[in-house]
Amino acid sequence: MGLTEILILISVLSFHSLAVAINDFLGKSNLETYIVHVEFPEYSDIQLSSSSGPNEDLDSWYRSFLPTTFASSNEAPQIVHSYHNVFKGFAAKLSAEDVKTMEKKPGFISAQPQMLLSLHTTHSPNFLGLHQNVGFWNESNYGKGVIIGVLDSGIAPDHPSFSDEGMPPPPAKWKGKCQFNTSACNNKLIGARFFSDGNGSPMDEDGHGTHTAGTAAGNYVKGANVFGNANGTAVGVAPLAHLAIYKVCSPGCSESDILAAMDAAIHDGVDILSLSLQGGSGPFYADNIAMGAYSAMEKGIFVSCSAGNSGPFNRSLSNEAPWILTVGASTIDRKIRTSAKLGNNEEFNGESLYQPKDFPPALFPLYYTGMNQSDFNSGYCGSGLLNDTGVLGKIVVCDNGGGVSRIAKGQNIKSSGGVGMILINQLSQGYATSADAHVLPATHLSYTDGVKVLAYINSTKSPMGSISFKGTIIGDHQAPLVAAFSSRGPSRTSPGILKPDIIGPGVNILAAWHRSVENNSNTKATFNVISGTSMSCPHLSGVAALLKSVHPDWSPAAIKSAIMTTADIVNLAKNPIEDQTLLPANVFATGSGHVNPAKANNPGLIYDIEPKDYIPYLCGLNYTNREVSHLVQRKVNCTAESSIPEAQLNYPSFSIVFGSSIQKYTRMVTNVGEAKSVYTVKVAPPAGVNVTVKPNTLSFSEVNQKLTYEVTFSLLASSANNTVSQGSLAWTSAKYSVRSPIVALFGATQRF
Ligand SMILES: *[C@@H]1O[C@H](CO)[C@@H](O)[C@H](O)[C@H]1NC(C)=O
Ligand SMILES: *[C@@H]1O[C@H](CO)[C@@H](O)[C@H](O)[C@H]1NC(C)=O
Ligand SMILES: *[C@@H]1O[C@H](CO)[C@@H](O)[C@H](O)[C@H]1NC(C)=O
Ligand SMILES: *[C@@H]1O[C@H](CO)[C@@H](O)[C@H](O)[C@H]1NC(C)=O
Ligand SMILES: *[C@@H]1O[C@H](CO)[C@@H](O)[C@H](O)[C@H]1NC(C)=O
Ligand SMILES: *[C@@H]1O[C@H](CO)[C@@H](O)[C@H](O)[C@H]1NC(C)=O
Ligand SMILES: *[C@@H]1O[C@H](CO)[C@@H](O)[C@H](O)[C@H]1NC(C)=O
Ligand SMILES: *[C@@H]1O[C@H](CO)[C@@H](O)[C@H](O)[C@H]1NC(C)=O
Ligand SMILES: *[C@@H]1O[C@H](CO)[C@@H](O)[C@H](O)[C@H]1NC(C)=O
Ligand SMILES: *[C@@H]1O[C@H](CO)[C@@H](O)[C@H](O)[C@H]1NC(C)=O
Ligand SMILES: *[C@@H]1O[C@H](CO)[C@@H](O)[C@H](O)[C@H]1NC(C)=O
Ligand SMILES: *[C@@H]1O[C@H](CO)[C@@H](O)[C@H](O)[C@H]1NC(C)=O
Repeated sequence: MGLTEILILISVLSFHSLAVAINDFLGKSNLETYIVHVEFPEYSDIQLSSSSGPNEDLDSWYRSFLPTTFASSNEAPQIVHSYHNVFKGFAAKLSAEDVKTMEKKPGFISAQPQMLLSLHTTHSPNFLGLHQNVGFWNESNYGKGVIIGVLDSGIAPDHPSFSDEGMPPPPAKWKGKCQFNTSACNNKLIGARFFSDGNGSPMDEDGHGTHTAGTAAGNYVKGANVFGNANGTAVGVAPLAHLAIYKVCSPGCSESDILAAMDAAIHDGVDILSLSLQGGSGPFYADNIAMGAYSAMEKGIFVSCSAGNSGPFNRSLSNEAPWILTVGASTIDRKIRTSAKLGNNEEFNGESLYQPKDFPPALFPLYYTGMNQSDFNSGYCGSGLLNDTGVLGKIVVCDNGGGVSRIAKGQNIKSSGGVGMILINQLSQGYATSADAHVLPATHLSYTDGVKVLAYINSTKSPMGSISFKGTIIGDHQAPLVAAFSSRGPSRTSPGILKPDIIGPGVNILAAWHRSVENNSNTKATFNVISGTSMSCPHLSGVAALLKSVHPDWSPAAIKSAIMTTADIVNLAKNPIEDQTLLPANVFATGSGHVNPAKANNPGLIYDIEPKDYIPYLCGLNYTNREVSHLVQRKVNCTAESSIPEAQLNYPSFSIVFGSSIQKYTRMVTNVGEAKSVYTVKVAPPAGVNVTVKPNTLSFSEVNQKLTYEVTFSLLASSANNTVSQGSLAWTSAKYSVRSPIVALFGATQRF
């Protein structure tokens, strides 16, 4: 089972059934891996013996939780990972009885069977406005000196994208390891680790990890292309940043390994963590990635995560903690075009990466297996198609989705003697198409065009069609367009924080691959074009590395604020950014908008958040003292500390949930622009809401000066329950516009 198939699964199964499916696939032993959370009793300092180091003491304390007798199973419980940095706890192989025994020990908090997570591709730096020797790329020194930790499926270390030509040695603070056999690591690839399920090496057996690492910080490789398409110089967003690889997926991503990797990365000294992984969504004290990310953020590490590939449905987000940058996916202005022509002369443009030179332009019979309305699955071209003799010599029309990957559909057609494929979107997938490495001539069409193809097939006894190839086309002015698969808000865990935060390139991205795609094996520099929020996340990790290189003193929240308040809200045609329906996308699809790296470098004002500011926020979520204490890893008494509503966190965007009809919040902005500067506020209120800001002018006289303002949201008229409206608040000066989106949610919201 490859990762691409797991990705498809996650869109049709719930997260739990996915984990079960993977467990069945892996074959289970009696013992399961549990993530165990523990605390020092009453948070009094535990009496650790002074002879050994603190980590050894922690480890032996963790071991004291393991039962010494084990009744039903004859396998001894055993610790798989001891965590030192992410939180107090460990991963252990345990039986359900072992857990029951442990529950009685003082200091025990919880033990849950680990989840298995799924992984969520170069023209994109140019699309982001990054150009050689000029502007922000030059100014940021291409991310020089910054270390990006990538948690993924490992890496192909000999790929030219990871050559260390032109790279300085790693900074002195680096304490990581290279667990490859030989001298595979270098000044680009400064570390590579694997964890218990890693098949004994950080080697990438899937391609996904090689791709995400290459996207974030790959070196320059000339003449990169796939099947001759998208030909050009491949390069990551931060080509002079170092890479530290943590292999946590092989192929499933084990939660205990992810935590062990975050634990190691915090110790090793990474600056940025990039996680293109999708788990579930739940309260932050029960979300292990959110907890690990909190500890990382506290040490100044910027954590960038994919929003998930479960769109376009509402409330489909993961990785939504406010200390994480949650990244959605959008298109770039490159299309790899193929088109379908029908017997009635109608022609539709679609996409495919595979562009054979020798495919005849002739008309072939068209065949659609999905005409039978009562057989729900018949149009998906799944494995059942292999017995269909009607496919021979025809171009087969397939419905997108149905748990069959786009490439697998083509493989089924080819195996049955079909000559080509027209892949048509379902309604929810709208106009969003991908250029995939198909195994036969194919074109991926929009829903609207698909409807016309089907109507034609239905209108004639012997429908005919052809596929033609038009190569790489740059200059799609609808870009960036939000991908159909990009997960949408609102956040179910904390609806008072607007998520996702940002969108970035995640459709048809070309980057390094671990082996040749299909049979194109005549070159060592192999690349692939793939899509997902997995691809947009490392773009933002790269942008964060560039910003960190220029502004080493900016906190993770400051970097995030700079990225969000300067984001673009219009496409290349200067119209509002659209989604897969070709209508303006809402903020639950775009967050603050599309990343603009050069503007993020000079945002004027920033909304900063210190680690301690999250405590009143967590108390305000009505988490217990124990839950908050464990999450932040120190004793917290919410009654004694202050408690704030979610929207009061100094976040660079606003999500206002209307229960009470008047809500007042304060925000603090820090001047990182010119010393003497005057900003005035411009508000575009959401429909049905009155927004007033006091004061409406902010006058700064020095750099790093902080000023506060108060913003009042009041309901003008009662709006229908479960509706939303959106607007914005921007502080503008002669030079800057510091923009925050506002979303208003009316009526009760679902919350965990
Ligand atoms: C590139 O950056 C260097 C150092 O920051 C600067 O001296 C030089 O003028 C920049 N070049 C261009 C073309 O912007
Ligand atoms: C590492 O070395 C061992 C022993 O020499 C060998 O069996 C193994 O295949 C090597 N692994 C890799 C990834 O080169
Ligand atoms: C890619 O572009 C380079 C430089 O323009 C050219 O030399 C090479 O032949 C091209 N490769 C393909 C496969 O088009
Ligand atoms: C998502 O929510 C928006 C705003 O409430 C609503 O207009 C839209 O129909 C919803 N979409 C889906 C797929 O439910
Ligand atoms: C349509 O599909 C249903 C359910 O699979 C099947 O029972 C029926 O025979 C099919 N009809 C035709 C005309 O193929
Ligand atoms: C083809 O048909 C045979 C007999 O009905 C069945 O056993 C087999 O599983 C089918 N193959 C596929 C790929 O559906
Ligand atoms: C790849 O090679 C295999 C075996 O030689 C062949 O069957 C297959 O058709 C080739 N695939 C492509 C896309 O050329
Ligand atoms: C095909 O045409 C028939 C009759 O015109 C119509 O009832 C049916 O809905 C059509 N099916 C599709 C899939 O368009
Ligand atoms: C927390 O509890 C208070 C008091 O019961 C309530 O007003 C508030 O809405 C709750 N907050 C959340 C996030 O549930
Ligand atoms: C928390 O603080 C409140 C108010 O200061 C105090 O009454 C209470 O005893 C404290 N709780 C704990 C567990 O320390
Ligand atoms: C909005 O609120 C302000 C201040 O409370 C008030 O002066 C103004 O009249 C309100 N606007 C509307 C349309 O209600
Ligand atoms: C919204 O729902 C609540 C209860 O769920 C109800 O009391 C209220 O009247 C509804 N408001 C509107 C405007 O429909």
